[in-house]
Amino acid sequence: MDIVIVGFGTVGQGVAEALSRKAPTLQSAFKEKLRVVGVFDSKSYDVSPKGLDPREVAGRKQKLGRVGPELNGKGVLEILEEVDYDVMVEVTPTNIKDSEPGFSNMMFALSSGRDVVTANKGPLALKFKELSRTAEKNGGRLRFEASVGGATPVINLSREILMGERILSIRGIVNGTCNFILNRMKDEGLPFDQALREAQEMGYAERDPSYDIDGIDSAAKAAILANAIFRRDVTFHDVRRTGIRGVSLEAVELAAEERKVVRLIAEVSESRLEVSPRLVPIGHPLAIGGTLNIFQLMTDLAGDITVAGHGAGKMETASAILSDIVALLKEDCASRKKEA
Ligand code: HSE
Repeated sequence: MDIVIVGFGTVGQGVAEALSRKAPTLQSAFKEKLRVVGVFDSKSYDVSPKGLDPREVAGRKQKLGRVGPELNGKGVLEILEEVDYDVMVEVTPTNIKDSEPGFSNMMFALSSGRDVVTANKGPLALKFKELSRTAEKNGGRLRFEASVGGATPVINLSREILMGERILSIRGIVNGTCNFILNRMKDEGLPFDQALREAQEMGYAERDPSYDIDGIDSAAKAAILANAIFRRDVTFHDVRRTGIRGVSLEAVELAAEERKVVRLIAEVSESRLEVSPRLVPIGHPLAIGGTLNIFQLMTDLAGDITVAGHGAGKMETASAILSDIVALLKEDCASRKKEA
């Protein structure tokens, strides 16, 4: 399996490291060579049909600020035309306004029957149908576990392991920054602004923190869950959205007197699509603290299933990307066996 990594910020570098660490085990399990044949950041690139050493490329990026020769006005896709690869790992930054450059990158790969594995929320929350139709039409596979919940395996759990279930609804906390802020307000009596500053210092918040606190990031994730799990055809704009900007310290303290916490909850079902602050009793799974993400799935046979984990972070997001790569390897291995 020949992989190109498009986007080489924190997540891309995490993927490079995860691949270096896990390739030997995966190669022997699936009897297939796993090679990174191209790496692109916004200014530079490195390609090799024989395979690059992903750790070495990450080291170069950290030392020099680029992965190889400058693009020099050439587009990433222009260079990719000449590269032979099977899977594009698309991890350029999320753009919730027009979904670029992620959307064009993904369409380029899917249109030629390649597989795409991504953490990029923008294209999935704005143009899911176009992407999945293009994948289907050309025989490519689109996987995006890392786009919602970071390392928490909610998408593949719902679509694959729980395929026999009817999932009635999903409620969850999908933004660690908001959870951190609400928690600090309650535990330390901090005003909203100060708690937000702390969250930014921790490096967990989006570049533009309004994405977190106005519920934009959560709404994008809710739209992805609706499309992927409930087979709806929605965009991020269809989500009823209230963020946490209006949650006062008084409201948090009042809730605490009633043994409740305020949480920014995303709720998705066949008929609901909403992100809003809600009161949750202390002790309830959704009252989880820290920066964790959590999902409570209501199903027809299994009842409630709850999964929690790290919603962001370099290696955590890389873990979800790797789980999608493993799923592709598994499918390829199964079809090779069928053909034999
Ligand atoms: N800013 C996001 C969060 C990062 O706080 O959860 C993951 O999308």
